[in-house]
Amino acid sequence: MEGEGLKCIGSVMEFLRFSIGASTRIQKEKGFAPYPQPQKWSKNNLGETVNATPKQKKLISLSQFILEEQLKIPHASGEFTALLSHLVYAAKIVGREVRKAGLLDDILGATEDTNVQGETQMKLDQYADNAFNQSLKICGHLCVLASEEHEAIIPIPNGYTIGKYTMAIDPLDGSSNIDTNVSIGTIFSIHQRLEPNSKEPGTEKDLLQKGHLQRCAGYIIYGSSTMLVLSTGKGVSGFTLDPSVGEFLLSHPDMKMPESGDIYSANEGNASYWSPEVQAYLQKIKSIEGGKKPKTARYIGSLVADFHRNLLKGGIFLYPNDTKSSKYPNGKLRLLYEAAPMAYIAEQAGGMAVTVKGERILDLTPKELHERTTLIIGSKKEVEEFLTFVPK
Ligand code: AHG
Ligand code: MN
Ligand code: MN
Repeated sequence: MEGEGLKCIGSVMEFLRFSIGASTRIQKEKGFAPYPQPQKWSKNNLGETVNATPKQKKLISLSQFILEEQLKIPHASGEFTALLSHLVYAAKIVGREVRKAGLLDDILGATEDTNVQGETQMKLDQYADNAFNQSLKICGHLCVLASEEHEAIIPIPNGYTIGKYTMAIDPLDGSSNIDTNVSIGTIFSIHQRLEPNSKEPGTEKDLLQKGHLQRCAGYIIYGSSTMLVLSTGKGVSGFTLDPSVGEFLLSHPDMKMPESGDIYSANEGNASYWSPEVQAYLQKIKSIEGGKKPKTARYIGSLVADFHRNLLKGGIFLYPNDTKSSKYPNGKLRLLYEAAPMAYIAEQAGGMAVTVKGERILDLTPKELHERTTLIIGSKKEVEEFLTFVPK
């Protein structure tokens, strides 16, 4: 009797081994298997029984996707997958707070503080900064971190593993829109440290690298849904947070920016303070000469949201330097936390990103953490047209 029981357990084990082996083989051969679903049968008009199971979309989570990407790189350590999972964890927490912002006093409004650049910090700015820093600095895969909200680099705390990547982050982009229920975002940029095998803490030098050397860049948009858009240098992928399972699922594979587009986005209130060349470009795209249609203005005031719309629909975003105040002689946007990661995404999606002088954003070497730049970014043809206005 005992022998029979053992035999039975043995065959169950054998069956499980076979099934697991087979399903892994199928997954390896065909990519990720869709989640199983019950089959539905119905009769067609000839009275035949046919399979009426609705076609199910393949669900690929962000972690599955990154893991799959890593499998293509020989000797990949999985470190990168783990780093992104720490970023995503904080993003979900920030996304949750953004959703309930109107309900709670301690989320809306300004704090008594200003950040390194003398700008008022909103409560959500501080909350997001905290959430990302806490999760990222102890993740074991970074050697140093920089945040738009901190003057100096953020070191890895004592006792935690020093990794081979650096991250620069704008924890909350579009702060002026927080209190008005308008889309805001997070932007991140990842480089490999200069000495990848070093176990010493990273330095500012490790962060001050050219944009085209980024290993990954992306943003999270907290909009009507929460989306994460990223590139690891092989095109751009978009993931939408499915709140019911708490996972980012691949919703926009291989995103491409339309080659041209009708939208222009700029804070046109500053137009009188722009250079004559930028003003001339603006006149041109609004002109109706020769029966031309003028472009359409769309400006949210959150770079993430303005860029995201233009990525999907095509167009151009401009933040040139202006003479309105002496605060931003070289433009307002930050090279490390905003311009370089967005430029990386734009180029990977077929678009372009340059300064008002026509320099490629990804070729600039940041001289300091909080360096500002002008930014003209968007569809290839639109940026090329802008370049014809740049003085030689
Ligand atoms: P942040 O909220 O991170 O400081 O960034 C705000 C930036 C950017 O998101 C946006 O494109 C730009 O500031 C808007 O500036 P204006 O209000 O001057 O138009
Ligand atoms: Mn920003
Ligand atoms: Mn910010």
